[in-house]
Amino acid sequence: MKKMIGMLLSMILIFSLAACGNNAPAGKSESGDAETLPTSQEEILSESNQKTLEQEDVSGEQATDETPVPSEESAEAEGGKTLVVYFSATGNTKDVAGYIAEATEGDIFELVPVDPYTDDDLDYNDDNSRVVYEHEHPDDRNIELEQVTVDNWSEYDKVFIGYPIWWHAAAWPVDTFIKANDFTDKTVIPFCTSASSGLEDSGELLAEMAGTGKWLEGQRFSGSASKEQVAEWVQGLDVK
Ligand SMILES: Cc1cc2nc3c(=O)[nH]c(=O)nc-3n(C[C@H](O)[C@H](O)[C@H](O)COP(=O)(O)O)c2cc1C
Repeated sequence: MKKMIGMLLSMILIFSLAACGNNAPAGKSESGDAETLPTSQEEILSESNQKTLEQEDVSGEQATDETPVPSEESAEAEGGKTLVVYFSATGNTKDVAGYIAEATEGDIFELVPVDPYTDDDLDYNDDNSRVVYEHEHPDDRNIELEQVTVDNWSEYDKVFIGYPIWWHAAAWPVDTFIKANDFTDKTVIPFCTSASSGLEDSGELLAEMAGTGKWLEGQRFSGSASKEQVAEWVQGLDVK
């Protein structure tokens, strides 16, 4: 019996010691952790909040760093872009227009007649050719163009207008473009190519037709003008 009681007491002692041993770490872990966990969660949350704020700050800084965006917008609002508009029947004026666009970093807009001029149409030695007819009938020179208005026209403050000389004047397909657009607040620079004639008063006549815009004197080039010649003229204009 004594043995039984001794065993029972030892078992009770072992159980109570075991229970104490488990409770203590559990108590520390539960109570300690229960006290520290929310703190560390708060820390995590607060860190993550900080990160979010830092990220917001960074993105705020990035937005500040992107100040070129508003400045680009203001450049556009002020204009600042260059457009090279041209009509070319046989390619000479097209080449010069390309050189100007390159030198000015400008955009190009080609005037394309809905009914293009064929070689026969351009034969000014043939009394029955289209150009001779149109030359002799100014009222029939309303040349319809594929496109007469330019996207984002308001962004351009410098507009070059190029054409071949036909009978000492600007080839009339450009008239359709001139009549259809408002050149207010734009600097317009005429240029032409010809076999031998000069610019003469072709630019002034276009300026009169437009009725708006600040028209510069302009420049005549030969049909085989080089890129360097054109670039030199552009540099001298101070309208890069
Ligand atoms: C109908 C017509 C009339 C022309 N009249 C003249 C002129 O009066 N004076 C001149 O020097 N060249 C004249 N030319 C020659 C063109 O102006 C010259 O070849 C020009 O570079 C052509 O440009 P494009 O290739 O862009 O069409 C005429 C050409 C054509 C087709």
